[in-house]
Amino acid sequence: MKLNDAFVFPALAQAFRRSSAGTAMAVAALLMAAPTYADDAPAADSTPLPVALVNALNKLSGGPHAGYRANHAKGVMVTGTFTPAAGARALSKAPQFLRPVPVTVRFSNGTGVPTLPDADPHASPHGMAIRFQLPKGATTDIVGISANGFPVATPEDFLALLQAIAASGPDAAKPTPVEQFLGSHPAALKFVTTPRPAPESFATLAFYGVNAFKFTNAKGASSYIRYQILPAAGEHGLSDEAAAKAAPDYLMDELPARVAKVPVKFKLLAQLAKEGDKVDDPTAVWPETNRVVELGTISLTKAVTDQAAEQKRILFNPVSLPAGIEPSADPVLAMRFPAYAVSFGQRAP
Ligand code: HEM
Repeated sequence: MKLNDAFVFPALAQAFRRSSAGTAMAVAALLMAAPTYADDAPAADSTPLPVALVNALNKLSGGPHAGYRANHAKGVMVTGTFTPAAGARALSKAPQFLRPVPVTVRFSNGTGVPTLPDADPHASPHGMAIRFQLPKGATTDIVGISANGFPVATPEDFLALLQAIAASGPDAAKPTPVEQFLGSHPAALKFVTTPRPAPESFATLAFYGVNAFKFTNAKGASSYIRYQILPAAGEHGLSDEAAAKAAPDYLMDELPARVAKVPVKFKLLAQLAKEGDKVDDPTAVWPETNRVVELGTISLTKAVTDQAAEQKRILFNPVSLPAGIEPSADPVLAMRFPAYAVSFGQRAP
């Protein structure tokens, strides 16, 4: 039997939308085992796409690094509260938009390198993953990055980009594979050439959900949205001179110290799609003039005590969603949880 990625992975994402970490282990095991079902497929095609993506991320970071994520390996976790804004429930009936709920947030550096200095250009885009604790032990997550948009529109192109980067070492013939990829993918070229100065603090960085979601309110009215998570302290970056002198862990050390003194706040916003905006392509950034609705305020007040153990244990899932929020048909969104589950399998005991 041939495993058909296009069919299997959106279905998997759907099936595991409300998954726990335990289920993730099962998904990871299933995906690792998948080549045995693909006997009639050519060897090059037999690695399931989420596994190939994690392998490619590992290769770029010199990993796998035992106990760490294949991407966004270095991070820091804090806790606090999300308080919904009055207008949020007009868009979605999800429970976090009805009353305040506790949140756990993990900020991170890009790449799978656990020791990457925080001011290294490869640490950007940074990550912000938010877990909302809902009534009756349920949870839902938002997993965003400090970039408005993604370099590619499909997971297949993401794999091609990662593999092109890996094949473009100092000895690669010109034009290198990554130069060729960027030459034929304008969104990827724009993404890698957008300046992203090292932030002053995680508290002064804006984050974006990138993938679209479908919100539905109690009356059954639906709209497509993308999350924006904007710092109340404003966006502030370091100068190149300051970044060159920054301590390797300056971001990871600064946040716990800051939250101990003063709550770190972010506004959670929903940018609404207009008629004709693409909702299934994370490279298609919507116009700034689109309507933006305030969903609420994230207030972070405490660092997590056992950082190493908690970061290892928690698995964020952007398609773990309550009634009132559904995934869009974005194929990048559908591939995220299967890939995260494979990466989780790599760090789980
Ligand atoms: C096909 C596309 C993607 C792939 C293959 C991918 C892959 C990964 C992997 C393997 C991890 C580690 C997960 C874990 O071990 O728990 C990860 C984490 C992460 N990804 Fe992605 N990713 C993709 C798209 C995105 C997008 C579109 C965003 C932003 C909107 C994003 C933001 C993040 C963040 C913030 C984390 C860290 C989460 C945490 O703190 O645990 N990723 N990604």
